[in-house]
Amino acid sequence: MQLADKIALVTGGSRGIGRAIAEVFAREGATVVICGRKQETLDAVAREIAADVVPLACHVGRMADLEKLVNTVHQRFGRVDVLVNNAATNVAQGPCLSVDDVQFDKMIEVNLKSAFRLVRLIAPGMCKRGAGSIINIASIAGLRPQFEGLMYSMTKAALIMMTQSYALELGPKGVRVNAIAPGLVKTVLSQYYWSDPQRLAGFLETQPLKHLGEPREIAEVALLLASDRASYLTGQVVTVDGGATLR
Ligand SMILES: NC(=O)c1ccc[n+]([C@@H]2O[C@H](COP(=O)([O-])OP(=O)(O)OC[C@H]3O[C@@H](n4cnc5c(N)ncnc54)[C@H](OP(=O)(O)O)[C@@H]3O)[C@@H](O)[C@H]2O)c1
Repeated sequence: MQLADKIALVTGGSRGIGRAIAEVFAREGATVVICGRKQETLDAVAREIAADVVPLACHVGRMADLEKLVNTVHQRFGRVDVLVNNAATNVAQGPCLSVDDVQFDKMIEVNLKSAFRLVRLIAPGMCKRGAGSIINIASIAGLRPQFEGLMYSMTKAALIMMTQSYALELGPKGVRVNAIAPGLVKTVLSQYYWSDPQRLAGFLETQPLKHLGEPREIAEVALLLASDRASYLTGQVVTVDGGATLR
């Protein structure tokens, strides 16, 4: 039980990588609050995980929703020990010159500003207690540009720098801040890349590990970063991509 007595908040916990993180954290004894936009979906997920999982609807792009979420968690549990900024969207996929202001703002609000706001709402308590772990789910698209993924790559690159900047300032207060940069993982978000067998085969041809990533393979790394076993680890970007970025 590596997270016994810990309170964790995972954004985007209704499916994919966020759900896998919630499952692994719950398995290790944490009380896990999951958020997503639909309460009924979250309720069903919480029932399926069948452990200490608390479903709270929240649109992470809206400040009022985030404040309500954090207030509820603080009232109910008194603190957050582990924050996982996982929720993201990719509404602006396409040629870089076709991205408009609305898409730009939406991508910044959901993928980036949400993490900034949640850190601002939650980290002061962590600093006061002298302990906490913040994990930002970035992407290998934030390490190098993704073709027709201007906004996705930009937001993930900024999330990585946000991670390192917070790590530098919050480390002396006992708060560790790290990022995970997943490669291709089998979820709804990345369906385009793996649903066509030929496209997937072409992708795996250049990747050293010859399988498509599973959400659980990201979640186990998040567990390490969340736990006290990673007590000397901060400001890092852990790339979990089957070796894809080696090529
Ligand atoms: N899959 C990959 O290959 C891959 C690779 C690199 C990085 N990542 C990163 O991994 C993270 C998880 O992605 P995934 O692949 O698991 O995606 P996913 O299956 O599409 O899940 C996204 C989650 O985020 C939630 N979400 C989306 N917009 C939201 C909003 N405005 N407010 C609250 N929740 C919201 C969704 O719930 P609702 O729709 O119910 O709101 C869902 O739970 C993301 O940060 C993504 O960029 C994924």
